[in-house]
Amino acid sequence: MDKKKKLRSSEWFGDDGKMGFVHRSWLRNQGYPDDYFEGRPVIGICNTWSELTPCNGHLRDFAEVVKKGILEAGGVPMEFPVMSLGETIMKPTTMLFRNLASMDTEESIRANPLDGIVLLTGCDKTTPSTIMGACSVDLPTLVVPGGPMLSGRFRGEKVGSGSMNWMIKERQENQGYSAADIREAEVCVARSIGHCNTMGTASTMATMTEALGLTLPGYSSIPAADSRKKMYAQLSGRRIVEMVKEDLTMSKVLTRNAFENAIIVNAAVGGSTNLIIHLTAIARRIGVDLKLEDFDTIGSKIPLLVNMKPSGKYLMEDFYYAGGLPVVMKELTPLLHKETITINGKALTANYTDAVCYDTDVIAKLEKPFQDKSGIAVLKGNLCENGAVIKPSAASPKLMKHRGKAVVFETMEDYHERIDDPNLDIDENSVIVLKGVGPKGYPGMPEVGNVDLPKKLLAKGITDMVRISDGRMSGTAAGTVVLHVSPESTVGGTLALVQNGDWIELDVNQRTLHLDIDPAELDKRKKAWIPPKPVADRGYVKMYIDHVEQADQGADLDFLVGGSGSKVERDLH
Ligand code: FES
Repeated sequence: MDKKKKLRSSEWFGDDGKMGFVHRSWLRNQGYPDDYFEGRPVIGICNTWSELTPCNGHLRDFAEVVKKGILEAGGVPMEFPVMSLGETIMKPTTMLFRNLASMDTEESIRANPLDGIVLLTGCDKTTPSTIMGACSVDLPTLVVPGGPMLSGRFRGEKVGSGSMNWMIKERQENQGYSAADIREAEVCVARSIGHCNTMGTASTMATMTEALGLTLPGYSSIPAADSRKKMYAQLSGRRIVEMVKEDLTMSKVLTRNAFENAIIVNAAVGGSTNLIIHLTAIARRIGVDLKLEDFDTIGSKIPLLVNMKPSGKYLMEDFYYAGGLPVVMKELTPLLHKETITINGKALTANYTDAVCYDTDVIAKLEKPFQDKSGIAVLKGNLCENGAVIKPSAASPKLMKHRGKAVVFETMEDYHERIDDPNLDIDENSVIVLKGVGPKGYPGMPEVGNVDLPKKLLAKGITDMVRISDGRMSGTAAGTVVLHVSPESTVGGTLALVQNGDWIELDVNQRTLHLDIDPAELDKRKKAWIPPKPVADRGYVKMYIDHVEQADQGADLDFLVGGSGSKVERDLH
């Protein structure tokens, strides 16, 4: 660090007058000695622990381990809570609150005497929300990812948390699963502490964080229950103190090249489509220009190197035993920007030169991948003027080019009411169109795009159909599912105008999504369209609806985008 640059915390604690007294005195009730206030870096441990976020239930213990590392390195740890987002519990969807949690993180950091930040994260949105908030303050920051659960096993079958959800309805229909069967399955799936153990959104976010350079190398794929997870937490505590001394701020790590690396790595591991929205939002917070098309241009030709659910067969525990992300990073070295700086102060790829693969059925060689092309395809067409996305590695090859008649559901409630109606005019060639699940519409853009197929088609053995919506899809899900249609239906995108029986053409190779309709008819429908009433007229939800941007821009609130925010650090005493 520049010798003249004072610690930020000294603005609070370095004063010999009344304000220094006030800032130090109340903290003294915690038993802190004099030297805690005499030039030692103060490290904020931003904890997303909550009993309502079971994936992060172990992070309270982890915070104590991080504190050990901070103290060993001469820093002063101060843990603070921020809003936690429990993916499977919160209604209507955690995505509605990602931006709120990011504001909580940003303002908690900005308002307090902190010199460096450790983010303790795990469940899906707890990672992007806290990173977004920290970006807006731009202090030295690293991430301690909570880690995935150990693999589950149910009646001899290896089962992944998340992926099992998508099998339950089908098994109830075709294998007669009872309530007791389901109770047994649910506990087998959630076998240990940690987050979902497929390459779902949580593992994707942890992988993204490491690829961006925000974790110690090799940290993201270690299971939560593995003793090495805690060891790395302690080492992270030591490292953040050094980062403060080096003034290694987030904006020095999060360059355009770092974002490109994250896109490449996400493609190679078959990561969640949710990465697009979160990575875009993070980029826009730190001031990096990242467009929806970049995910296709940079990522879609990257080979799939990881054989993991939902695209493949294995779980995060297997991935770790096979060598984990370090092996993937080493394999990808020719394709990555090698010199991006990571939080350990070294260039990205230099961190992985010693990686060894122990199972090539889990992690493939670059020259012999599981699929030649992975990543995410960005579609354009009159049905998605600002874009839509599909994950080809999770889709059915035979549906990648498809023309079918629309079966339209105006809302999620409409879908639930009619999807299993025996008289519904639908077959396996139909295209299910779901409206009203975008950022403003639901509101919060829930993970419902991969809606279940109708019971009558499941009973016929149909397992996939083309589904199109302005919503998102769980990272643990699979199917030929077109997501993030933008503009969304609620703001009058073409999606709002689709009617039952319209022909829709999807061509993933050509990157097109087309509503086959006479332009005059489309124009007529546009003029007759009446916007739906907003679902909230007060509080955070109203603010969210008024300010949330569209999916192709990351669904952040418009006033939070763009580098560091307001700097209100005045003494009001
Ligand atoms: Fe928390 Fe999947 S529900 S990570």
